[in-house]
Amino acid sequence: MSTMTTPTPSASCFLVGPVPFKDVAGPEDDNHITPPEECGHIISTLPTIAFLGRFVHHQYQGAWVIHERLPGVLSFQRSFTPRPGDVLLASPPKCGTTWLKALSFAIMARAAYPPTAGDHPLLRLNPHECVPFIDDLFSAGQDAKLEALPSPRLMNTHMHHSLLPASVAVDPNLKVVYICREPKDMLVSMWHFGNTIHPCDFSDMFESVCEGKSPDGPIWDHVLGYWRASKASPERVLFLRYEEMLLNPVESVMKLAGFLGVPFSAVDEVAGLPADIVKLCSIDTMKGLQVNKTGASGLFYKFQHKSYFRKGATGDWVNHMTPEMAQRLDDIFEYKLRGSGLSFSS
Ligand code: A3P
Repeated sequence: MSTMTTPTPSASCFLVGPVPFKDVAGPEDDNHITPPEECGHIISTLPTIAFLGRFVHHQYQGAWVIHERLPGVLSFQRSFTPRPGDVLLASPPKCGTTWLKALSFAIMARAAYPPTAGDHPLLRLNPHECVPFIDDLFSAGQDAKLEALPSPRLMNTHMHHSLLPASVAVDPNLKVVYICREPKDMLVSMWHFGNTIHPCDFSDMFESVCEGKSPDGPIWDHVLGYWRASKASPERVLFLRYEEMLLNPVESVMKLAGFLGVPFSAVDEVAGLPADIVKLCSIDTMKGLQVNKTGASGLFYKFQHKSYFRKGATGDWVNHMTPEMAQRLDDIFEYKLRGSGLSFSS
């Protein structure tokens, strides 16, 4: 019997990394295709809430998904075909998605765009314009734009792991990078971000998160899904924590590059390539760029680019929560994560 196996392609097979999504897809197209009728039928059967009295969410397969993005989840589950080299960045909202997008793009595209190049795409495009958000893309019926991207494709989602189709969840050629964040800081970040589109009371948002009824909540289930997947398949799912990345950004970039199949050589390290990528993607650099000071993007909600870059620090929750609130959220997460080996308590 032959012992030969077919080698599986990885990101390292591609000499040139991902191309900026906007360069291929062009400007955002606000003409959304109406979801199929059966989609409306499924949605009408689901539990529904109005988050903060305004944003309609449906509970689908255990996750609270905002109304506008549910057709995208259904369509993604039915029609997404992974390709060798695909990389999916996953996160709950407000946990460092923008940063992870910038870092992953800069790492994977560094052969075509060295991080110190004056024409680096991240100097003229917001990270969300470089890396497509598939939840919106599929909801708007614009998934053909994902097909038009050359490999390797870099994309992101806020979907729970349990919502990913089997083709993604078990595909050996598709890598998933997950980032999560200390829940109290995530909540504070979500409140500030939410206020840019709809002013709300902090206490209302706090209650919603505690009840698990927040965007892409329950957040503990979101985190647990990817945590378990990373434990089961560490070669396919990398689990990152925002706080650890802030503490050791260069080390984190090297770990990320290794996982993505494009490790830095000793020469790269001596030349300071990982540190250059950290600098390019730092919140100070990103905040200072004209493209991130102005403009907005998003297919269903136009988010100001500047609203993605606030403090970029840990521990801001002390400025917004009473000790009792902090204890309550800590206790909820401790309880929900018990026995998993994952904890946010220091
Ligand atoms: P704060 O609101 O606590 O400052 P997301 O990208 O998932 O929406 O997360 C937004 C959070 O990540 C915000 O946190 C934002 O400031 C922070 N952030 C954005 N870019 C960053 C970067 N380059 N480095 C570190 N943190 C960053």
